[in-house]
Amino acid sequence: MKQKPAVSPSPAWREAAIEVDFEGGIIRRISRDWALIAAGDGGDYNAMTASWGALGYLWERPIAICFVRPQRFTRGFTDANDLFSITFFGADVKAKVHKIFGGESGRDIDKASKAEVTPIVFKEGAIGFEEAAETIVCKKIYFDDFNPANFLDSAIEKLYPQQDYHRFYIGQIVKFYQKKE
Ligand SMILES: Cc1cc2nc3c(=O)[nH]c(=O)nc-3n(C[C@H](O)[C@H](O)[C@H](O)COP(=O)(O)O)c2cc1C
Repeated sequence: MKQKPAVSPSPAWREAAIEVDFEGGIIRRISRDWALIAAGDGGDYNAMTASWGALGYLWERPIAICFVRPQRFTRGFTDANDLFSITFFGADVKAKVHKIFGGESGRDIDKASKAEVTPIVFKEGAIGFEEAAETIVCKKIYFDDFNPANFLDSAIEKLYPQQDYHRFYIGQIVKFYQKKE
C-alpha cells in the first residue's frame, strides 16, 4: 500500500530565507542537481523529477515556475492542489531518488517506498521528503499551457513530437525549508 505522507518533518528542518539561504547558481541547481515537484496532501500526493524550472521575482514576490507535461501522473495533483513543492536532495541519495521518481510513474508504484524516502507534510500543507536537503513551498498563482504558435525558435517544437505541451504553474514562494547544518 502507498505510504501516506502524514508524517511531520523532523526537528532537523528549519525555516530559511530563500533570498539568502538558497545557494549556488539557480540554473545549475535546477538543470544539473534536479528536483522533485510534489503536490497533494496528507492523504495522497505524487512527485516527479524535474530539470526544467525557474526561480525569480514577479508581481512583487519571489516565485518559482514548474513545467508539467499532460501525461504525468503528477499533473492531476498539480492541477487539483493549491500548493506544490520543489525539493532538492543531497549527493548521498540524489541518484537513487531521481532514477525512480524520474523513470517510473506513481500510477504504477509507490515511488517513495522504492526510493526509500519518507514523504512528510510541512505545516503549510505541502509535501516534502525527510531525507531531502531543501524544500521550496509554493502557492499556485497562475497557470497556462504553452501555445506552439508562439514558439519563436523552431528547435523548441522538436522537443514536442507528441504535441504534449507543458502546463506551467507560477507559484508564489511561501516558505523555504532547509536541513539544519
Ligand atoms: C532529469 C529529468 C528531468 C525531468 N524533467 C521533467 C519536467 O521538467 N517536466 C515534466 O513534465 N517531466 C519531466 N521529467 C519526466 C518525469 O519525471 C517522468 O516522466 C516521471 O516518471 C513522471 O512520473 P509520474 O507519472 O509519477 O508523474 C523529467 C525526467 C528526468 C529523468
